[in-house]
Amino acid sequence: MTQGEARTGNGTINLPELCLVALIGASSSGKTTLAHRLFRPGEVLSSDAFRLLVAGDENALDASNDAFDSLYHVARKRLARGLLTVIDATNVQPDARRRIVELAKEFDVLPVALVLDLPEELLLARHRARPDRPFAARVVSQQMGSLRRSLRKLQAEGFRQMTVLNSEDQVAAAQVTRMPLYNNLRHEHGPFDFIGDVHGCLDELRDLLTKLGYAVRDDLSVIPPEGRKAVFVGDLVDRGPDTPGVLRLVMGMVQNGTALCVPGNHDIKLVKALRGRKVSVTHGLDRSLEQLEAESPEFRQQVTDFLEGLVSHYVLDDGQVVVAHAGMKETYQGRASGRVREFALYGETTGETDEFGLPVRWNWAAEYRGAATVVYGHTPVPEPQWLNRTVDIDTGCVFGGRLTALRYPERDLVSVPARQVYAEPVRPLQRPSDPQSAQQAHDEVLDLADVTGKRLIATRLRGNITVREDQSGAALETLSRFAVDPRWLVYLPPTMSPSETSAREGYLEYPTEAFEHYRRAGVERVVCEEKHMGSRAVLVVARDAGAARARFGVEDGRVGRIYTRTGRAFFGDEAMEAEVLARLGGAFETSGLWNELNSDWAVLDAEILPWSFKADELIRRQYAAVGSAASATFPAELKALEAAVARGLPLGDLLERTQERAALTGAYVDAYRQYVRRVSSIADVRVAPFHLLASEGHVHTDQDHLWHLNSLARLAGADPDLFMATAHREVDLNDAANVTAAEDWWLALTGQGGEGMVVKPLSFVVRGRKGLVQPAIKVRGREYLRIIYGPEYTLPENLTRLRQRGLSGKRTLALREFALGLEGLERFVEGEPLRRLHECVFGVSALESEVLDPRL
Ligand code: CTP
Ligand code: MG
Repeated sequence: MTQGEARTGNGTINLPELCLVALIGASSSGKTTLAHRLFRPGEVLSSDAFRLLVAGDENALDASNDAFDSLYHVARKRLARGLLTVIDATNVQPDARRRIVELAKEFDVLPVALVLDLPEELLLARHRARPDRPFAARVVSQQMGSLRRSLRKLQAEGFRQMTVLNSEDQVAAAQVTRMPLYNNLRHEHGPFDFIGDVHGCLDELRDLLTKLGYAVRDDLSVIPPEGRKAVFVGDLVDRGPDTPGVLRLVMGMVQNGTALCVPGNHDIKLVKALRGRKVSVTHGLDRSLEQLEAESPEFRQQVTDFLEGLVSHYVLDDGQVVVAHAGMKETYQGRASGRVREFALYGETTGETDEFGLPVRWNWAAEYRGAATVVYGHTPVPEPQWLNRTVDIDTGCVFGGRLTALRYPERDLVSVPARQVYAEPVRPLQRPSDPQSAQQAHDEVLDLADVTGKRLIATRLRGNITVREDQSGAALETLSRFAVDPRWLVYLPPTMSPSETSAREGYLEYPTEAFEHYRRAGVERVVCEEKHMGSRAVLVVARDAGAARARFGVEDGRVGRIYTRTGRAFFGDEAMEAEVLARLGGAFETSGLWNELNSDWAVLDAEILPWSFKADELIRRQYAAVGSAASATFPAELKALEAAVARGLPLGDLLERTQERAALTGAYVDAYRQYVRRVSSIADVRVAPFHLLASEGHVHTDQDHLWHLNSLARLAGADPDLFMATAHREVDLNDAANVTAAEDWWLALTGQGGEGMVVKPLSFVVRGRKGLVQPAIKVRGREYLRIIYGPEYTLPENLTRLRQRGLSGKRTLALREFALGLEGLERFVEGEPLRRLHECVFGVSALESEVLDPRL
């Protein structure tokens, strides 16, 4: 075999790492034996094995159709995953092979033939010795005949590579080496600077490289910042003033290993023209040819060789990023076929043309659900556009726009302006009259399939978190019916676990156990924060309506939203909400926080007081009912008992016990009453923020809690009537005096009716020996707990019973929700599509449907 021969002299067969191998050979030629030696378990799909599976007998010829259906089903699943697959069947009939070639095409993998063409006598001898092949020897001879007739046709049938083994020696010597596909640069981790369509704009290319930190001495000496590599998305040529200069610079960098380059449709057309093929000299090709005419024939040859050798797309950084000129849909990534190359060069078109005579492009990016980031150019856009993890960085430099780079993994976009308009676009560039980003426009309609069913959500803090189907159903119910506009819903806060039960007499919770918890987890410094008795709220605020539009895609003039931990609007009164947001924005302005954070939006976690503002209904129905029933019955009961005792009736300690119960109920009423205030205007409302969760470019989990509290205290400084700073103290757990002082602080706080405190590790996120550490533990005051556990919970017999509470369910839940909440914010900050962020928000809501002891 000459063409497509993959075998080298020493018996090594070079196979593409991803291909579909057809074993071809008559029965007893040794296909199964060889396949087991050359390939891994699972890679070889044998028709015999499938006959055995579906019919219980390897030789059940009547089961062949079922066997092949099953075999092809499995082959499809493997190829979809990008796994090399071998089909072990005789494959001596053209029909059988046609099916294999079609399968390879369907999955854009190379079909490869591995043929065993051994002497007929040898096969017949083997056949006679096999008890497992009960058919006549002439069947083997017939198969040999078919094989011989097939040999010369394989190439034409579409096999891109073939190896024929003619002797037992060749079979014995055969070895397989897997060759990486050209597009596989998964081992290259960057960092990269992806550069959009240059189109002969040499000055702007130099400007951009310089801005990116490359030392550009001349076109032949460009030195990247340490470790970085430029990646050109193609269309280096045409329309612009200096195509040869751009080519010289890029070719030099590629040669030096400081750049990668994929071809664009213009580059490919230029090569065709240089090769003397007939192409229409339009869209600026004339300028390239003219400019190249002034160069030496050697240079033109170098250009031809360079452009011809370009690989249509690359898969980089362990598959996390893909680059191609016009984009690359998920099922084509890392594949090699004609249509994959076409897609890389031209994108997917609908086959129609628009009013400018240009092909109407199919918006593959809108449907993209792949995990890899796809960087592409080709379609000039006024602003780089992120859509579902794809980004178009062709900002039309040659049309007077900008030349743009995407820094990866930083994901910063860096551009330089065009020095002039070098060409008029055929189709006008879409002007940024539309304030929404492509992603935001796309996110107006969400797909139910993106949030429902059993889900596995990958979080950076805690790996994969499973949400059961019933839980995600519950979340959909809550969020779709009651929640605020989903575009504001960037975060839901996690639940918080109480401390381990205290052993101290008369107490269910006490600081000692919380401190001990952290000490055991290896945390030495904690922050104790006053727990405000209010309701949890998330505040999302933008600097102005413009920022709200740009960052949240919301166009109704709102500058933010305030919502509860279930995603519902916190304020029933929209005017009040608007005022709180306006004053929050004002406090950000006055305190200088907007400027310091370099952001025009922020997400805060807060407590809003008074408690009765949100919990009014709960207080009246649950707590007040108990209180008033008690105050109605105890006075009469006590009076009767006192009279009876006066008369000398033997009541034992009934009077004392009733007096104690009456006193406890009094304490209960006192406990909840102090949190009840009427709210008639904003003057009665207080907002106590305690986490400055996120702002542009950052989820502030790298800052410790003192930073959070001190930053937020500045809001209280700016507008003390509305915002409250949270009292707190840092505690060194190794310092006994410090610990005692903190306990006393808690006793004093709760003694004055405070709800209690929250103990947090100084750092926002702590990983201990056993994984993620609880981000916060609450230690509630003795009197506050009376509201939760009932008036008489402090009676010794009740306390003994209540101490048996299990915290592990609550603790795991708290960690999972914490990880999900922060994951969602990270995704938001990274500009991921709304569905990716909502996966996390829905996840928190879904986990909240878990039934746990509500008193914890
Ligand atoms: N065999 C052998 N020497 C080899 C390869 C195979 O003696 N180098 C023997 C095997 O032990 C087996 C017989 O030849 O008894 C057929 O080999 P097998 O690999 O099963 O052949 P296949 O081509 O898979 O036959 P079939 O199409 O019938 O499955
Ligand atoms: Mg076999």
